[in-house]
Order: sequence, then C-alpha cells, then structure tokens
Amino acid sequence: IDTVVFENATEASKAVAQQIATIIKSKQQKNESCVLGLATGSSPKGLYAELVRLHKEEGLSFKNVITFNLDEYYPMEPDSINSYVRFMKELLLDHVDILPENYNIPDGTLSKTEIARYCATYEEKIESLGGIDLQILGIGGNGHIGFNESGSLQNSKTRLVALDHITRVAASKDFSGLNNTPRTAITLGVKKIMEAKQVILMAWGEGKSNIVKASAEGTVTNQVPASFLQEHNNAVFVLDKEAASKLT
Ligand code: F6R
Repeated sequence: IDTVVFENATEASKAVAQQIATIIKSKQQKNESCVLGLATGSSPKGLYAELVRLHKEEGLSFKNVITFNLDEYYPMEPDSINSYVRFMKELLLDHVDILPENYNIPDGTLSKTEIARYCATYEEKIESLGGIDLQILGIGGNGHIGFNESGSLQNSKTRLVALDHITRVAASKDFSGLNNTPRTAITLGVKKIMEAKQVILMAWGEGKSNIVKASAEGTVTNQVPASFLQEHNNAVFVLDKEAASKLT
C-alpha cells in the first residue's frame, strides 16, 4: 500500500485538505456532486479545521458535497456531548455551506428492530449517488476501520456491532469511565469502504506505529481490518513521522 509521510500531523492534514478541495472543485466544474466518506475521532480534527479555513478564507464551497459518516455509537442521542453528530457539526458541518440534507450520520436513536432496514437504506443511498468518491479513515489500536473491529469480514455490510474492549477503553476518557461507554455502534461495513473510489487513512503518533506496520506490511487478515486496504487499488496511508517509524 502507498504510504506518504509528513513531518507532522498539521502538515499532513493540510495536504489531505488540498486533495479534498481539488476533488470538490473538479466535481463543481462538471456540475456533479462530490460524495465524501468521513470519520470522527482525533485523527481528522486537523483536516476538518483546514477545510473550514479553506471555506472561510479561500471560498471553498461545499454546496455540491454529500457526506456519509462511518459510524455512530448506539444508543446515542444526536445532541449528546459525545455523539458523532455533535462532533461533525462542531468541527465541520456548522462552519461550511454544506446543505443540511446533504450530510448523513448513522442514527443512534433507532429502536433495535429498525436498525437492519436503516443500515440497508444507508448503503442504498450511497449506491444511488454512485458510491463514495473519497473515504477518510482513522485507524483503531486494533486495526479497526470505522467500527469494523477485529474479525469483521471484507464483505461485511453496514450494521450494529459490539465494540471491542480496547475500543471502549480508548473511548472511555470521553464518557468519564468504562461503565458509561457504549457497548455497541452502527458502522459502515468494510464492503462499502472497499468500494470507495479512493481511500485515505490518516494516523498520527508513536502509539499507532505498530498497527500501521501490521496494516500496511503484514498479512491481510480480518484480525486487522485495515490490512484489507492493501487490496484496494487507490488507498494511501497518510502518516506523521512517528506513526511511520516502524515501517520497513
Ligand atoms: C471514527 C472511526 C474510528 C477512528 C479510530 C481512530 O469515526 O471510524 O475508526 O477513526 O478509532 O480514532 P482516533 O483518530 O481518535 O485515534
């Protein structure tokens, strides 16, 4: 898999923002919409800050942009402090000119019986738009992408999943303790991620270096779902020096 290494996360995030701006503008010229797959968590924060800056200072418009977020905790109220709806609104969506009907984030308020139908519809909506043009990913300490934890199959669909212990421990700092941390989430499946025309996985810091190495250079295995990206024809890992430090 291609890896691109930057001096630091800020420089890397700016470069990824430029790539996104280029795609958005080329789609605008063709009067087409641009379908972006988006992640939450700490890794894309610099990217979203730079996209907001490009909108406010350089006139980048999101009027033709349609977004699909990877995941949301379940259950989760959209206005809850830890919801991914709130995260996306506060870091990106409320600060650019995207149309409210054009962003999609899995709904954490459904009843259990509604989830399967909802997930199928989420995928159908992506398909009806011609698929995801560019998917942004972070990577979990266990190699998860979205909330496709270890053991997720390469053809897995959008679904309700149980979160791994390691994922819940990482999240628990936001939920003031493991007991308050959700046990389940709705995630886009691996299949839709693999069907994206282009994938950019971002990882920063020494703490990600081992899983980055396993994902980029190790065996392709469902124990490390990010390793599936080795089989994608247009995927790149964008890394800072520390996250890349174990690569050969
Ligand atoms: C979030 C998501 C997760 C995170 C991953 C890394 O929408 O899909 O896969 O990208 O857990 O999280 P951070 O960036 O906080 O290290």
